[in-house]
Amino acid sequence: MKKLEQIYEGKAKKVFRTDDPERFIVEYKDDATAFNGQKKGTILGKGSINNRMTNLLMQMLEKHGVPTHFVEELNDRETVVKKVEIVPLEVIIRNISAGHFASNYGVEEGIVFEHPTIEFSYKNDDLGDPLINSYHALALKLATKEEIDTIIRLSFKVDEVLQEFFLTVGIKLVDFKLEFGRTSDGTIILADEISPDTCRLWDKDTNEKLDKDRFRRDLGNVEDAYQEVMSRLLAKSAEK
Ligand code: TMP
Ligand code: ASP
Repeated sequence: MKKLEQIYEGKAKKVFRTDDPERFIVEYKDDATAFNGQKKGTILGKGSINNRMTNLLMQMLEKHGVPTHFVEELNDRETVVKKVEIVPLEVIIRNISAGHFASNYGVEEGIVFEHPTIEFSYKNDDLGDPLINSYHALALKLATKEEIDTIIRLSFKVDEVLQEFFLTVGIKLVDFKLEFGRTSDGTIILADEISPDTCRLWDKDTNEKLDKDRFRRDLGNVEDAYQEVMSRLLAKSAEK
């Protein structure tokens, strides 16, 4: 497959067209941003870790019946994915209070929920990704009712599979953000990435933060945290 011109550059990834009209190549960068791009930095080795971690987790999700955009890992930083049109909704699932849940609703971090929560933001940097509900998404024609139902069902399935898996490597899946896409035949599949950039991951015993909050909050040892999660996942996948 031939990598052709870049069609998009986001905060953490670039997307390239290929000679196959149904395939894109994504390239993961070490660039890190927070607070809608106001804070900028580099997390050395992040691109490679997020690429490999996303691919590992997406292959696991596929086995559990969640369709994803993953096709083939090309190298450390590049992966072939199915071409999709991204649904401009960020889906956030939470199992434990943290981040904006804690600040918006005035509660401490670390409250374990009996049932996971789901929320959407409208993926629009100019507006600062405002929180919306499914009725707003419908009114804005971001997706159809059927697509939203599918997205909700798949997101809770992802939560179930990933929570269980992360626990086997001593990690609590606190919350995470997903993005979905539409293939050319209109199927909704999981896209984007699943990594310490997009998940809150706490050590099961110490609650040490092993995710991008170390960068957002200047906690130090950012690279070590990403590496730690990756090492645990690799050790687990080598067991099988
Ligand atoms: P929040 O508490 O800031 O709303 O974040 C919830 C989860 O979503 C957390 O795991 C980080 C992730 N996230 C992103 O991946 N991208 C974003 O732009 C934001 C705001 C959060
Ligand atoms: N990546 C996002 C940004 O720069 C936010 C975040 O992950 O905190 O806006």
